Amino acid sequence: MTIPADTAPGARIVVPVALEGRAYDIQIGRHQLCEAARLIAAMAPGAKVAVVTDERVAALHAPAFEACLQQEGIGFTRITVPPGEATKSYAQFIALCDALLAAKIERDDIVIALGGGVVGDLTGFAAAVLRRGVRFIQIPTTLLAQVDSSVGGKTGINSSHGKNLIGAFHQPALVIADTALLDTLSEREFKAGYAEVVKYGLIDDPAFFDWCEVNWSRIIAGGPERDHAVAVACKAKAAIVARDEREEGDRALLNLGHTFAHALERLTHYDSARLVHGEAVAIGLALAFRFSQRLGLCSGQDATRVSRHLDAVGLPSTLQQVPGGAGTAQEIVAAMGQDKKVRRGVLTFILARGIGQSFIAHGVAAEEVTAFVEAELATNGQAR
Ligand code: GLY
Repeated sequence: MTIPADTAPGARIVVPVALEGRAYDIQIGRHQLCEAARLIAAMAPGAKVAVVTDERVAALHAPAFEACLQQEGIGFTRITVPPGEATKSYAQFIALCDALLAAKIERDDIVIALGGGVVGDLTGFAAAVLRRGVRFIQIPTTLLAQVDSSVGGKTGINSSHGKNLIGAFHQPALVIADTALLDTLSEREFKAGYAEVVKYGLIDDPAFFDWCEVNWSRIIAGGPERDHAVAVACKAKAAIVARDEREEGDRALLNLGHTFAHALERLTHYDSARLVHGEAVAIGLALAFRFSQRLGLCSGQDATRVSRHLDAVGLPSTLQQVPGGAGTAQEIVAAMGQDKKVRRGVLTFILARGIGQSFIAHGVAAEEVTAFVEAELATNGQAR
């Protein structure tokens, strides 16, 4: 797969999300912060802006973005939340809503999430309920947020019962994926986001998976391959969201690897020192393919190819790679029980007939999953 001309260096790629009455664009390219400010000025002349960010991102990127807002004559307030998954909490949600009200953000104003998935999910949820809904804009600063969480309108916080169990669908009015912002990510964080990139190839785009196998190191290095990968991912997600915004059908395909991943995150107490979301997704993707192989759906060759690629990138692909251990098979399957993909106690998995041939499998028996996880734990990912 060659990179199309529109992803040459310096170019901006626009991916429309075609939702009736709430259509918006995702703009992808390097150094897009002043373009974002220009678009905001055009979209909402005279509006005030609240820039919600976390302490780490604020130090890296907020001054540059605020200088762009100033240049456009846009009045703004900065609201800073602590970094980390623990921020997706009731306490931080209340604090953010109060801070937005104290900043006198009105229905015609704009709330901006400048940060990763945590900032985007929390800010989007606050924007969804503040004064019964204000416009919000996503400026994702991690790869994971650029290719997944900033697109599609899922917002929310965590509960002690599980991740993302309190939330709302609230579509952004604009997404600016400035791929130069990713230059400041640690290698670990970037690679974790890459798991969500390669997921799109595994769902239904085998040619993109082939391309990722060849180009993954160039995506990490930056340049046109990175923009191309973000654009392919965003186009794929935009298409799925446009046909199934509220996850009544196809959108569930985006959860490939996520039933396992959410269980592992739960069992490691959302401790990012042990496992970050993208690493859990990488293990989940490898497990989804090996589970599909065990069920006789997918060839061993394809399952091995998935694990080999994750290994080559430096992502985990087995339960043994969970620092401190993943738990017993019973604990892992029990931890799946709070996942939103569980309906009336029956497990729904995204399985695959091969690379790029994933499908939604309802009614997967818990005993099948337990037996598979037991075999994985006993054989270090060599379970067949
Ligand atoms: N991250 C899955 C979705 O947006 O549906």
